Amino acid sequence: MCRSLVTGGAGFIGGYVVEHLLKEGREVTVLDNLSTGRLSNLDAVRDHPRLTIRIGSITDPILVSEVMQGQDEVFHLAAAVGVKLVADDPVRTIETNIFPTESLLRLAVQGGQRFFLASTSEVYGKSDQDRFEEEDDLQFGPTSKPRWAYGCSKAIDEFLALAYHRKFGLPVVIGRFFNVVGPRQVGNYGMVIPRFVEAALRGESLTVYDDGMQVRCFAHVSEIVKCVVGLMRCDNLDHRLFNIGSDSSVTIRDLAKRVIDLVNPELDINYVPYKEAYGHDFEDVRKRVPDVTRLQKTLGFKPEMPLEQILKATIAWKKEAMAQ
Ligand SMILES: NC(=O)c1ccc[n+]([C@@H]2O[C@H](COP(=O)([O-])OP(=O)(O)OC[C@H]3O[C@@H](n4cnc5c(N)ncnc54)[C@H](O)[C@@H]3O)[C@@H](O)[C@H]2O)c1
Repeated sequence: MCRSLVTGGAGFIGGYVVEHLLKEGREVTVLDNLSTGRLSNLDAVRDHPRLTIRIGSITDPILVSEVMQGQDEVFHLAAAVGVKLVADDPVRTIETNIFPTESLLRLAVQGGQRFFLASTSEVYGKSDQDRFEEEDDLQFGPTSKPRWAYGCSKAIDEFLALAYHRKFGLPVVIGRFFNVVGPRQVGNYGMVIPRFVEAALRGESLTVYDDGMQVRCFAHVSEIVKCVVGLMRCDNLDHRLFNIGSDSSVTIRDLAKRVIDLVNPELDINYVPYKEAYGHDFEDVRKRVPDVTRLQKTLGFKPEMPLEQILKATIAWKKEAMAQ
């Protein structure tokens, strides 16, 4: 039987990856320290006979080499995540996102595992291009601004993964996720849709940072997982690096309006300067839209669930969760 390790498997995306792999008939091990993840993300499969959950950190080398043994593939999703958490604690970001990735890659070479690395659209930094392509230049802000530590740390992970591929032939796939959303995502770490939905359901006004004209693309997590697993099952890939996300864009102001229309048209929007939310050295990116040609050519599909459907699913889930 095929065995898969999912680091960060109790996280928002990780939980869906685990469910998908179990459905495929795999034996799955989760390694998660529950720092931003929650065991409730695995509620649907918690007692599954082919699931093992190990609570611990990817920064623990002994534990990591133990859980890597006997695996056929690794989905490396564990990371310090979220713009706010990262801006607040850049040391944790760098420690969690860089060194453990290198030890996992090294062990994967020894064990012959296929390797998926979860990267992020944040690696494009503050580039102002209309659409980001995988081979575009990356453009980070200064190191004095901790906000860029997340994107830089993931860019180093990508360099490492590609180097291990070139040097040792390790079969790696890197997915640069754009905004991934859906039921079970929580708003604690600055994720915008859960934050809007939670506020709207509580009857509060929605807080939009700056002028709300930032442009983003939102994809449903189930479609993202289909892409991730699909890429890991492809033999003879022409590329190792893929943008993974929706290419249908919306401004944050329109997003807030859509949530308000769906939950309670009486609510209003409260515009707040970035410096009040993240401190005065915060910089944001105005527009972030992926070019997903490479993904679509490789898999024959791309994420395309309409935003309306995603919002309805997220609102329905949150309503139920708040009622419990
Ligand atoms: N959600 C998005 O829109 C998005 C966008 C770009 C990239 N990503 C990437 O996707 C991956 C998953 O993100 P997510 O949205 O599911 O966030 P998440 O916070 O729900 O998942 C991350 C998981 O990693 C775990 N973790 C963190 N540090 C750990 C450690 N030291 N040891 C073991 N486990 C640890 C957390 O407990 C959590 O379960 C991350 O690598 C993230 O950078 C997500």
